[in-house]
Amino acid sequence: MDSGSLRHAFLNFFKERGHTIVPSSSLVPDDPSVLLTTAGMQQFKPYYTGAVDPFVSPHPTLGGKSLGSKNAASIQKSFRTSDIDEVGDERHLTFFEMMGNFSFGGYFKEEAIRYAYDFIVKEVGLKIDYVSVFGGESSVPVDEESERIWKSIDSDLVVKRFGRADNFWGPTGNEGPCGPTTEIYVNGIEIWNIVFNQYFQDRNGNLEPLKTPGIDTGMGLERLAMVSQDKSHVFETDLFSSLQSFLPSGTHSVAFRRTLDHMRAVSFLLADGVRPSNKEAGYVLRRLIRKTVLYEDRYKFSEDALRNILSVITQEYGDFYRELIENQNVILEAFAGEQQKFRKLVSEGRKRIHDLIKKKEEQSHFAVRVKEDFGSKSEHFINLISGDEAFDIYQTFGFPPELIEDELAQYAYSYHKEEFKQAFERAQQKHQEISRAGLERKFGGHGLLLDTGELKAANEEELQIVTRLHTATHLLQAGLRKVLGETVHQAGSDITVERTRFDFTYDRKLTPEELKSAEQLVNEAIEKDLSMEYKEMSFQEAIATGALYSPKEKYPARVKVYSAWNPQTKEVFSRELCGGPHVTHTGEIGKVKIIKEEGVAAGVRRIRAVLE
Ligand code: SER
Repeated sequence: MDSGSLRHAFLNFFKERGHTIVPSSSLVPDDPSVLLTTAGMQQFKPYYTGAVDPFVSPHPTLGGKSLGSKNAASIQKSFRTSDIDEVGDERHLTFFEMMGNFSFGGYFKEEAIRYAYDFIVKEVGLKIDYVSVFGGESSVPVDEESERIWKSIDSDLVVKRFGRADNFWGPTGNEGPCGPTTEIYVNGIEIWNIVFNQYFQDRNGNLEPLKTPGIDTGMGLERLAMVSQDKSHVFETDLFSSLQSFLPSGTHSVAFRRTLDHMRAVSFLLADGVRPSNKEAGYVLRRLIRKTVLYEDRYKFSEDALRNILSVITQEYGDFYRELIENQNVILEAFAGEQQKFRKLVSEGRKRIHDLIKKKEEQSHFAVRVKEDFGSKSEHFINLISGDEAFDIYQTFGFPPELIEDELAQYAYSYHKEEFKQAFERAQQKHQEISRAGLERKFGGHGLLLDTGELKAANEEELQIVTRLHTATHLLQAGLRKVLGETVHQAGSDITVERTRFDFTYDRKLTPEELKSAEQLVNEAIEKDLSMEYKEMSFQEAIATGALYSPKEKYPARVKVYSAWNPQTKEVFSRELCGGPHVTHTGEIGKVKIIKEEGVAAGVRRIRAVLE
């Protein structure tokens, strides 16, 4: 079935079964807890919590009318920023159309499963490989009821039990309705997710039974089209096929898929009023446009390729999504505006790179010598552009490291690809830490450059020192826990350019030997020059890594987990939730010396330590 027929078949199927058909809501949601609409259920959230009555309250996408039913179905424009880096494989997309049926106390497992089976098998004519149900975990039991229902429909069907990661749906790191799921697999991929909303998850991940248990299902049109059209790729379906002809043949396949994905996303975001900017949805849009312009540049697309793709998207999707037609000119103009701005930056960035290389060649006899001695076969790495310089070019011109590499590759001598990448990443990480901490800068008041509450620095030089002391403080906590045991927890800390002051729970004075051992462990960790790296994740995921945190502190939904570790052996010396900034390698700290230990309150000790 072509994608247009699939859309109609889906909506008709549920209309005939008493569902109110609801238009897609905007990609820019009313719900401030999410940046962009990620699922069909979003516009229905208040019905599950019982906050509004489907027979009384006007529904936002139905003008002044209420749903007039406990059951609804829609095809929702959805966008998942979390999948941006996966785009380019056979089935991940940023923008996609999510088909879904919903019920708020109207029906539950029995009907939801039968509808799904009938639609997939009888309506679309597909064969189900297998289905999965929730296998049970802590307070939520195995979903035997769904298992029984599937078997009663088709006793030969394979029903697998999966864990929480696969078969429990909830808003990651956020609050909202959630519950166990059952999923349908066809041609090896998951195509339909049927959620039994039974709980409300609060921001800390606690589950409360929901006022109006119900159904929330989601099936990506692109994946359904892929299995129905028997393709091995979403990009081979009719949803994309006419767009491909504008790209030069032989375009690197990932770049090509990303371009098509991003152009659809860009069209729909612009039609919903998003404009390129440096924050939130505008920033996502800007990144997508710039990425396609980089591909355009790198793979030599024809002058009008991207513009033509936008026009075809408007024509092909405009029947179903009128907003594309209504905003056709806006889409073309806003895209072209950002494209031009970025093309100009890219050419300035390219000039900067070449100027920089020339300058270094002139300065460096070594470079010239290597060039003569080894020619293009040289294995020698010449640090033509440092990580900091590359990052600066990226920051100023939006010229990413891959393109800088392309430029470097034009020179006769080779450079070390991996080393260059790492140097860039280190520079980027350093920058992110400093700018994150900078969000908390308080100018004026006490004239400080940085004041996170914990760290204080008056200028860049002091910032470097407190950053070293900050990492030292993490090592100190880890060292103390190794010597004194895991009852040691941070009770506060204060870092100035002179020293770190670290308070922790412990019920007696430390012996000189204990202090020596802790100090020694810290200095050993420094000598090992461990990597100090962070990963961003949800608060719950962070806790699950065993990272230390203070239960009293209020953390945001997404947090950073810093580890001082050896990435080769995976040995972790210290792991904590923290906002940074930190050094990138513990070796940068130098030597740490504990200068004082005292009691400050019942069960709380205080250590002062300095850099030697
Ligand atoms: N909310 C679920 C999902 O996004 C089902 O629609 O997968």
